[in-house]
Amino acid sequence: MFILPRSSFGLTFLCVTFFSFLVWITSGHGGTSRSPGKARPHSADGVYTNVVVKESASDPIWEIQNRTLGFQKIYAVSMPHRTDKRDYLALMAHMSGLDIEFIDGVNGSMMHPHALPNPWGGDKGAGTYGCWRAHLDIYQKMLQEKIHSALIFEDDADWDVFLRAQLTDFARGTRYLTNATLPMLSPYGDDWDVLTIGHTGVDNKPGRDGSYWVTENDPTVIVESRRTWGRKPDLSVKALNGPHTRLVHTVRKMTGTASYAISMRGASRALYDQSMMPNAEPIDVALSNLCRQERWTKDFCIGSYPMLIGRYRAAGPRDKDSDRRAEANVAEPGSEHQSHSERLEPESEFTVFPVSLNIKRLMMGEMVIPANVPEKDLLKEIDLRTFVLPEGKPVFVRTKEYQLFNQQRNAPPQPKQEEKKAEEIAKSIVPRRHLAS
Ligand SMILES: *[C@@H]1O[C@H](CO)[C@@H](O)[C@H](O)[C@H]1NC(C)=O
Ligand SMILES: *[C@@H]1O[C@H](CO)[C@@H](O)[C@H](O)[C@H]1NC(C)=O
Ligand SMILES: *[C@@H]1O[C@H](CO)[C@@H](O)[C@H](O)[C@H]1NC(C)=O
Repeated sequence: MFILPRSSFGLTFLCVTFFSFLVWITSGHGGTSRSPGKARPHSADGVYTNVVVKESASDPIWEIQNRTLGFQKIYAVSMPHRTDKRDYLALMAHMSGLDIEFIDGVNGSMMHPHALPNPWGGDKGAGTYGCWRAHLDIYQKMLQEKIHSALIFEDDADWDVFLRAQLTDFARGTRYLTNATLPMLSPYGDDWDVLTIGHTGVDNKPGRDGSYWVTENDPTVIVESRRTWGRKPDLSVKALNGPHTRLVHTVRKMTGTASYAISMRGASRALYDQSMMPNAEPIDVALSNLCRQERWTKDFCIGSYPMLIGRYRAAGPRDKDSDRRAEANVAEPGSEHQSHSERLEPESEFTVFPVSLNIKRLMMGEMVIPANVPEKDLLKEIDLRTFVLPEGKPVFVRTKEYQLFNQQRNAPPQPKQEEKKAEEIAKSIVPRRHLAS
């Protein structure tokens, strides 16, 4: 049975709108004068942050300072009619020193019936088909244009001003997990398929021995009370557990495609899986199955917990958040936007020092950035000139160390709340008749 992850809808998961990232800065200029030490903070066209790079000058980890974060491309998927979201994504990208390329989301109602996947597991709404198609379009484009790696954002992506520093340490983690050694082409190593950095729920693989990259006391890690998603990793091992601990880990299942990176190899595998095998499903479920079922490799997905990319929620009607539902894609001419629920203040979900909420400070050249939830976050504010993100270290965990996992495994099964909720949501979605055949 198809289980719709709870957040798949709630999320504003527009598939259609991808994210864009912004990156911050410190953009990389200056390719000529690299020596181990600090990447040059730069504020000419973006945020100023310190990134400590200790690797040698010839190590591609330095490329993470560039305008595409060490990936070949950053794509932001966005419905062409959501010009409002493109406005702020473009601004956030600019302030982060990022080059993002908008990719038009797909109106699922316009897909020819012959192009619809069959079989298809899951909701048949036009929004879900359109979202799936938009992601496959990117994979196809990567193969056609020989793009070896891409970071994909849905259009509500939001990130931390320290994204470059975060990704630099994330790359050390992906290298450790994949046993990467120099020389390598990608800063993240050359043996990965999907990097899940913007999920809304993820778990790990406590059923086997495994490697983790662990950073303690990372002030960009959101507090436990803000981790409102359903799917969580088993952290019942002391070395993995801490209120502000970030992990790089292999992913068993995940929810949401708000942002992820995919390699050319991953794109070709996902395209095969979704177009030539009978595995087509809503894109987040499809990718999650590639992680979990290990059709290609046991480490198809490597991710960060908590996530590195969060979501921006503009002030105003909440139903503007998502374009995935077909109804949201039909403008009623002459009508004002109607909504039962208004958000009075903009919000940034799952971030501590978000670009979105600090955009004016950044544009004003201010150097002190307040935390999203100062009363709970590890640091109330941060000075961009002096703050340096802590570095992770390798940790190897044996299966028997996950006491909680083993206890739960032996306990009687619990009723699945998430499944019930997903069914309710699925029922509430009106099928588009012409898509059904
Ligand atoms: C950033 O680095 C990656 C990896 O080396 C490279 O593929 C990409 O072209 C670079 N981006 C820019 C804008 O230079
Ligand atoms: C990395 O090396 C370790 C130790 O040799 C091995 O156990 C592990 O399976 C390797 N991981 C990958 C992804 O090759
Ligand atoms: C999507 O296509 C349908 C069918 O042609 C159309 O009614 C609808 O307005 C389209 N939505 C957008 C946002 O273009």
